[in-house]
Amino acid sequence: MISVKYHVFVCTACKVKGEPTGFCFKKGGQEVLQKFIQEIDDRGLGSDCLVTYTSCFSMCKDGPCAVIYGSAAPGGVWYGKLDEDAVEEICEQHLEGGTPVEKYRI
Ligand code: FES
Repeated sequence: MISVKYHVFVCTACKVKGEPTGFCFKKGGQEVLQKFIQEIDDRGLGSDCLVTYTSCFSMCKDGPCAVIYGSAAPGGVWYGKLDEDAVEEICEQHLEGGTPVEKYRI
């Protein structure tokens, strides 16, 4: 079993067979996912963070959205209306600094 400090789940709203559909896909969920992967890699956080893409969280009105679970936030921290700038802030403040970014929380 993999043990990481943070597990980031990003809604990309793809169906099981990979067909793109849904709100978060149309609003940039795939770009948000790619940005998380890139930022985590650029910051050398790969051994502390795992990124997984998901289907719909039923929080579409706040999409693109993500939830981050970790030892500091076992109940999860939910983020919404994400874009690439938001992901950069979340990686810096939350994944590196340990403090959730309030302005993107839902
Ligand atoms: S499509 Fe992302 S929460 Fe519904």
